[in-house]
Parts: sequence; C-alpha cells; structure tokens
Amino acid sequence: MRSIYQVAFSLCLMSALSCPLDSLAEEGNKVSAKDKLIVETVLRIENFDLETSAPAKAAVLRYLRAEPGTDRYFELIDRFKPDEIVNSLMEYSLAHATDTGGARGAGLLFAMNRGSDIADIANSTDEKRAVAAVQLIGHAGGKKTISMLLPALKNGSATNAVRSAAIKALGKRLDGQKQILSLTRDGQLSDDLKFAAANVLLASSDKEIAKEAAKYLELPATADSQPLPSLAELIQRKGDANEGLKVFQTTGTCNKCHRVHGKGKEVGPDLSEIGSKLSREAMYVSILDPSAAVSHNFETYSVLTVDGLAVTGLLISETDQAVTLRNSEGIDKIIDQDDIEIFKKQKVSLMPQDLQKLMTVEQLVNLVEYTLTLRKKGD
Ligand code: HEC
Repeated sequence: MRSIYQVAFSLCLMSALSCPLDSLAEEGNKVSAKDKLIVETVLRIENFDLETSAPAKAAVLRYLRAEPGTDRYFELIDRFKPDEIVNSLMEYSLAHATDTGGARGAGLLFAMNRGSDIADIANSTDEKRAVAAVQLIGHAGGKKTISMLLPALKNGSATNAVRSAAIKALGKRLDGQKQILSLTRDGQLSDDLKFAAANVLLASSDKEIAKEAAKYLELPATADSQPLPSLAELIQRKGDANEGLKVFQTTGTCNKCHRVHGKGKEVGPDLSEIGSKLSREAMYVSILDPSAAVSHNFETYSVLTVDGLAVTGLLISETDQAVTLRNSEGIDKIIDQDDIEIFKKQKVSLMPQDLQKLMTVEQLVNLVEYTLTLRKKGD
C-alpha cells in the first residue's frame, strides 16, 4: 500500500517546487530508508525524468552503487540508463561474466550503446578482462556477435584463452557455428582451437553442422585411452573417496553444475544427499549415460530465436511473455515469446554424455566412491 508519505514524495518529485528532498538526501554509499523510498517512488512514477531532480538522481546512484547485481539494480538502470553508472556496470559485468548477473549487465550495456567499449576490452592485452568481455559479447551481442568476435578469432595476436572464449561465444549462435565450421573447412582454425571448436560444433543442435564438423573434428578419447570396464565389473571396485572429491571439483567438472553442501553451481540437482538416493550401479549409470534417465524437473529444452540465437537449457519459467532457460554454464537466459521460432523439449540430458573422457577409470571409481558418501544425516 502506498503511504501518504510516498504520495507526498511523488508530488514533490514531479513538481518544480523546492521540496524537503534536498534535506533528506544523504552522503556516502549506504542505502538509507529514505533512499529506498525515493527509489521505489521514482520507479512508480510513469515517465519520470531523473535529470529533473538532482536529489532523486543522487539517491538512485547511491542505491545503484550500494546494491549492485540485485533485481532493483538492473531495473533502475534499465529504466533510467544513467551515464554515471556505465563504468561500474562494466566492471560488475566483467567480474560476473560467467553468471546471470553479468549477462544481464551486458544486455544493459548494449542497450546503452556501450557495445564498442566492450569490444575494446575484448581486444585489449589484459587477458582476463578480454576473456570476460568476449563472454559478455556472447551473452548479449545479438547479431553483432559475429562482426565483433570473428576478427579476434582470426587475429593471431589474441591469446588462446581469448580465442577459445570467442569460439564458445560464437558457438551460441547458429550463424556463429557456421563461421567456425567454414574456418575449420578452410583449414584456418589453428590446432589449439580444435578442442573448443569440436565441443561447440559436434554438439550443435543443427544436425547438418554437427555432421559436417565430424569430418574434420573429433573429441579426445578417454583420459587414459582405456576402454571402460563393464558396469558389472565397475561396481565390484572400491575407490578412494578423498581422491574422488578432488575429481568432483577439478577434472570431472561436476561442481560446474552441481551443488554439494552449498558449494558449486546450480544447474543440475543438488547432490548433497545423492548417496542416499542412488545405488552404486545407478550412480555409474547417472554419470556415464545421463540421458538414460533424466531426473524429473531437469529436462532439457532448446529454443531457436527469429534472429538465430540457439539456447539449450533447463526450463526455469514460462509465461505468456517469456521463457527462461538456464544453460549448462548456469546462466539464465530470458527469451521473449515473440522472438521464439522453435521451442522444443529434448530427449537428452543437459549433463554431457562423455564426462568419462575427462577421467581415467581409476578417477571415475574414486569419484563414484565419493558421491556415495554424500548421504542424508543419520542415514
Ligand atoms: C553441464 C552440466 C553438468 C555437469 C558438468 C555434470 N552434470 Fe550431473 N546432471 C546435470 C543435470 C542437468 C542433471 C539432471 C538431468 C539428468 O538427470 O540427466 C544431472 C544429473 C546428475 C545425477 C543424477 C541426479 C539424481 O538426482 O538422480 C548425478 C548422480 C550426476 N548428475 C552426477 C554428476 C557428476 C558426478 C558429474 C561430474 C563427473 C556431473 N554430474 C557433471 C548436469 C551436469
């Protein structure tokens, strides 16, 4: 409910009269109750022009500096697009380039015509920032992604990390995948990028692309080139759970998608109590053949937008206006229903089919031993 105080505030913000706001505005980067009230109020006034009220603007900027990454933060920037916040929004987005927050920030930077600033950072010599900038372009570059990233890919001076990131970013779009495929076909893709390219192209949702890519690219075999023993044989083996924990967090990449006791990303199910749910054999099957039985609520969906963006991920929400998918990096993508050309439920798990390729058989056995120790209290 709107209080009388808020109504008075609205009137005061809209009028040219001097009002008590000036005396209310406070210094520093802490959000006071008054700042919060001002922010809530300006958001409610339709077409409010922030430039007409210095105190309101100061309150909004204080709020933005104190609460980066919150829903309100993005809402305020989207609404008022204050130039003063561009630098800190850029830093925030670069620091969160692999999270939903960074993707949202990048979208706003593009909306504020700062795409070329992101491109400048992508072409800079600071590798860490350049990689982050390339990732931001991948999240929000839209059709410009190709023209922004293809030069970096062809440019021999960019580091492997930057070029690998560019391949991954381009690979989010079908037109980008076609560009990578044509570089591969023409022998213009350096060897150090073939792994990144294979990961993108062989997993393409476009079967033609995947088929042609398979002529030129392949993923490496198992870590120790050993064939996997049969399940019956695997379940007889006992592993070292402590070593398995290391595999979970490093080579196995499990923590990139699963949480255990609050640590790790939230793409797949929380595994803190998985040992109470699955038998040793079921655990192997879950890891080696994830698509064999996809957990309820974790089905994979894919969307193709009118402008060629291909997103695959878990369905987080679906309304009349938009669909939200969480991709395998844990980033939430909101896609307008109006932009959707194809929306399809996939039969395969979002969990990669070939994770055993990252591990030796011994590491796999240790990993399973570790996951079996993750049990309910008192279980
Ligand atoms: C790219 C993301 C991703 C990675 C990496 C990943 N998983 Fe998963 N995992 C998922 C998703 C999504 C599901 C749910 C869908 C399904 O059941 O296949 C899942 C399901 C599972 C399940 C079944 C959970 C249940 O409640 O039945 C287990 C066990 C599991 N993963 C273990 C692992 C282990 C161990 C690793 C590392 C070797 C790993 N995952 C790596 C995404 C991932």
